Amino acid sequence: MDATTSRYPEIYARWQRDPHGFWGEAANAIDWIEKPKTVFDPKAGVYGRWFPDGVCNTCYNAVDRHVIAGRGAQPAIVYDSPVTNTKQTITYAALQTKTEILAGILEKDFGVRKGDRVILYMPMVPEALVGMLACARIGAVHSVVFGGFAPKELATRIDDAKPKVILSASCGIEGTRVIAYKPLLDSAIDLAKHKPDACLILQRPQLACELTPGRDHDWQKTWDEALVWAKNVLEPVPMLATDPLYILYTSGTTGIPKGVVRDNGGHMVALQWSMKNLYGIEPGESWWAASDIGWVVGHSYIVYAPLFHGCTTILYEGKPVGTPDAGAFWRVIAEHQCAAMFTAPTAFRAIKKEDPEGKLFSKYDLSKFHTLFLAGERADPDTIQWAERLLKKPVIDHWWQTETGWCIVGNPVGLGQLPVKHGSPTVPMPGYDIRAVDDACKEVPRGTMGSLVVKLPLPPSCLPTLWQQDGRMTESYLAEFPGYYKTADAGYIDKDGYVFVMGRTDDIINVAGHRLSTGGMEEVLSGHQDVAECAVLGIKDELKGEVPCGFIVLKMGVNRPHAEIEQECVQLVRDKIGPVAAFKLAITVQRLPKTRSGKILRGTMKKIADGETWTMPATIEDPKVLDEIGGALKGKGVGG
Ligand code: COA
Ligand code: AMP
Repeated sequence: MDATTSRYPEIYARWQRDPHGFWGEAANAIDWIEKPKTVFDPKAGVYGRWFPDGVCNTCYNAVDRHVIAGRGAQPAIVYDSPVTNTKQTITYAALQTKTEILAGILEKDFGVRKGDRVILYMPMVPEALVGMLACARIGAVHSVVFGGFAPKELATRIDDAKPKVILSASCGIEGTRVIAYKPLLDSAIDLAKHKPDACLILQRPQLACELTPGRDHDWQKTWDEALVWAKNVLEPVPMLATDPLYILYTSGTTGIPKGVVRDNGGHMVALQWSMKNLYGIEPGESWWAASDIGWVVGHSYIVYAPLFHGCTTILYEGKPVGTPDAGAFWRVIAEHQCAAMFTAPTAFRAIKKEDPEGKLFSKYDLSKFHTLFLAGERADPDTIQWAERLLKKPVIDHWWQTETGWCIVGNPVGLGQLPVKHGSPTVPMPGYDIRAVDDACKEVPRGTMGSLVVKLPLPPSCLPTLWQQDGRMTESYLAEFPGYYKTADAGYIDKDGYVFVMGRTDDIINVAGHRLSTGGMEEVLSGHQDVAECAVLGIKDELKGEVPCGFIVLKMGVNRPHAEIEQECVQLVRDKIGPVAAFKLAITVQRLPKTRSGKILRGTMKKIADGETWTMPATIEDPKVLDEIGGALKGKGVGG
């Protein structure tokens, strides 16, 4: 298919002509309790608010309305867990009952009310999805924290969100390893100033845990007791479209994460629109996003969007490789007849590494499968081409962020696929007017690198603000380029309007599709007793795209073996941030390369580590330091 047969140009132009009319029409796909009379109020909130007088309920749209429309017997969630050898199908009718029961428990047993926060620190089990939906049902604001974060990170989120209740589980399972969650939860609550009233703990058969008396409640026991009274008692609570649905913390440039807020109405409208028009999915089809509910992709495309659209969503508790082999993805697609899947390129790099010829692929029937979508990090052309050759189906890269909650730039398969240019996620979705600008916010010529910014207002589903921090919202995203949202990604737009996203302009790195702050890691390393100064950068990694590498300068007089201190630094980051940081490389150097004004030359250090050609920065204080850096990297087997 080529550009002329796609409806994209017509639809994008329609949005440009009349953005409010466009989103007003898209809003008709949602069941409102009170239909919005105003599509957008530019005066409300930090940069305006979508559907300010609409009243709705997200859980009703994800669950109840499909039961009413006759989809009660259709699977809503298919849980496939190779790590526990479990498969479970939950129909829309059963999901409705489950969300009613858990909503009842939250409200009646634990006194959770509209606007209260509930944190979920849970593995990929159906109870986690039920937990999110139950919160949405009663208007509680959920905040899911990824299981790979350490207690300190969880504690920071507890102190910011101040949850009334925490939903958790006894353990998670990482491949063949059972990870005890309860000690992590206990230690986070100990560290946090804010204490939740109660924790509801799911005991998993792989590892039971002790419950803390007076605080912890056993999930199953509470559930069994509630069965007597909770079912069918809880109608979805009417919510303003602008009320928060959830807070999702994401890495900022410091160790303090940003609490991205998602509203109810705009979120539903944009996600619902995306399923048909962007992803080309019909209600009733099976859809699989192989991410984790702790990330935005998990929120939007494991839980909400497929359920808004009446699809069957696959909940996979496993890895692309090793559970049990590199054919796992093909097995899941074939077994559950997925029409499309969505994952991060790193997962495909992992499969490619283990099964480069795709021998395992040929064992499965993927006839129902039509598209693979990739996001979360830059999709390297090699990986895309490998997947295209193997699948013989479109492989579609698309660009988005936790902040936006859905795609910024993509290839709208549902409107008619546009030609793919490897290395580009293709074109802006309706709602996004993207520009590449210089530091003075002046548009740069086509083909020239600049900062990628979005003209305000942001479309529905994008963050209206940061949790209780309007000032930080403005400062982080809106102040630098007046009238625009700063994506903090750099890239260029080519002559055909294709956007190329090349990398971050801040110190965020993407490790195996996981967003991490090098600034946060530097804060941890600086806390080591022997470290005087440090710099953490993301260096190229064949599997994970990037991995962090920490350079440390020791305090005068420290004469312990460097290897010992480096090992302690690695452990410190694991303990404070979590295993997800994948921080495995600390290198001791005599000094860091700096400009005469004292700025660390991270860009040049990265080029050296990545084995790329580099030029001597004119402002460098002492050129010899770069040789020392190169030598130290070589000593660890890194660099060209
Ligand atoms: N709970 C506890 N620990 C977790 C965890 C969780 N939910 N998720 C990851 N971890 C741990 C891992 O076990 C690993 O620990 P280790 O250092 O002891 O081995 C560490 O965090 C790093 O995890 P990860 O970067 O995922 O590496 P991996 O080697 O386990 O797996 C891939 C590599 C490529 C297979 C894996 O990253 C993957 O499947 N990625 C898919 C992409 C994805 O989900 N992206 C999300 C956004 S779309
Ligand atoms: P997250 O908030 O975790 O979704 O990470 C968002 C960041 O990941 C973006 O700002 C980009 O730097 C990067 N990213 C996500 N998708 C893509 C993509 N398709 N191409 C390039 N970078 C991407």
